[in-house]
Amino acid sequence: MDARVAVLASGTGTNLQALMDDPVVGPWVVLVLSDRAEAGALERARARGVPAVFVDPAAYPDRASFDRAVLSELRSHDVRFVAMAGFMRILGPELLRAYEGRIINLHPALLPSFPGAHGVRDALAWGVKVTGVTAHLVDEELDHGPIVAQEAVPVLPDDDWDSLAERIHEAEHRMYPKAVRALVEGRLRVEGRVVRVLEEIPGTGART
Ligand code: GRF
Repeated sequence: MDARVAVLASGTGTNLQALMDDPVVGPWVVLVLSDRAEAGALERARARGVPAVFVDPAAYPDRASFDRAVLSELRSHDVRFVAMAGFMRILGPELLRAYEGRIINLHPALLPSFPGAHGVRDALAWGVKVTGVTAHLVDEELDHGPIVAQEAVPVLPDDDWDSLAERIHEAEHRMYPKAVRALVEGRLRVEGRVVRVLEEIPGTGART
């Protein structure tokens, strides 16, 4: 199995940590890439001895050339799969084409509700009683691709952003490694918008 994974992250990297701690996914994480030099995710990667690369958006004249720089890092590390974990940038068409069906993203709401950069805040403001987390394959539209996995999270009467975000993070750390595992083990079957997750690893007969 070739499951070399790059994790793209802009923030503290708790989800990156969950991926690196996963017994299946962890050993395959060969690159952590960030658009922020001070991202905690880069520190977490270094602490594990995983190559940590900062690609500075300010060093590129436009989005397409930033995107090409990211793509060239992925290629130079022989990356096969890309897991986005709090990466606050939209990937461009060239990168999406190169990794079609092999990029997964994590979103802190139950898509298609509350897409965008503020999934937790928007769910609270709307007054929903249940929100959650979504892992989905990435396509050219924001927070839109076929859904791999979801977990519901209740919104409690006294929740504020911090308390809800904490519960959301707990669900993410449970759910996302399983979704990334299914991707790298070749267990996803995509038909239109619908993703079937196989329980058996193709060609091995092994059950997860
Ligand atoms: C997560 O809530 C993820 O859903 C969102 O960004 C956050 C990243 O958190 N896209 P962390 O850096 O993994 O702690």
